[in-house]
Amino acid sequence: MDRYAVVGNPIAHSKSPLIHAAFARQTGQALSYEALLAPLDGFARTIADFRAAGGRGANVTVPFKLEAFALADRHTPRAQAAGAVNTLAFDAEGILGDNTDGAGLVRDLTINLGCALAGRSVLLLGAGGASRGVLLPLLAERPATLVIANRSADKAGALAALFATQAGATRLQGGGFDALAGGRFDLVINATAASLAGELPPLPPGLYTEGALAYDMMTRSKLGMLVEQAAESFALWRGLRPDSAPVLAELRRLIAAG
Ligand code: ATR
Repeated sequence: MDRYAVVGNPIAHSKSPLIHAAFARQTGQALSYEALLAPLDGFARTIADFRAAGGRGANVTVPFKLEAFALADRHTPRAQAAGAVNTLAFDAEGILGDNTDGAGLVRDLTINLGCALAGRSVLLLGAGGASRGVLLPLLAERPATLVIANRSADKAGALAALFATQAGATRLQGGGFDALAGGRFDLVINATAASLAGELPPLPPGLYTEGALAYDMMTRSKLGMLVEQAAESFALWRGLRPDSAPVLAELRRLIAAG
């Protein structure tokens, strides 16, 4: 049986084994998927041991996504743009690094939540790894405007500059929160760590258009993104895409039932 795993620290509460087991059942694929705790100073060793034991691929989560990028000897364009890797595939040539987070976010927004991005105005809060990880797939949806706003304005400007050549017709800007005054957005995505600390970024009032969507990437409530990035990883490994909707519904039922 082909073996896969999710590697992180901590890892005990990961829902990935449950999600991939459901995908495997649904598609009739014979595979196993386990959660592996890597010591904070032992990510590369954990991956090497897993690969030597017959592992075919792995998902990578906090805090190892940058180390996973460094470990991979080839990268998909979206992993290259993200500068981070959440999916590794092992083959005869070595280790391929991919990043399915942005595609998972876009699929959750456009399919699960029915929020098309083409031609809309989008505000992305935060300029750390989480924001960088989703920028290329967001731009690929061709929003009219994408503004990156961050507590440290210069980091948002630098991130916008990094993606300038990939923006196409999208107006891509970066700056501080106070520069947002007077702006109006159809979609606001929080990719800052503020909500993890129970805080909110200091946003000026009146930023939302009527019917606008606010999406917090950082809270666990975004199960949709979790299931969709898992489906993207599964598709990379197995060459077929599972139907994510019933798995998302099952997960919501399980969580509601405690
Ligand atoms: P990651 O790479 O995981 O995204 P990070 O690089 O530490 O982590 O970035 C965290 C993001 O959350 C940054 O955009 C950070 O803003 P700064 O660049 O100004 O530090 C943002 N952030 C963290 N705590 C915040 C808070 N309380 N209010 C607003 N933004 C916050």
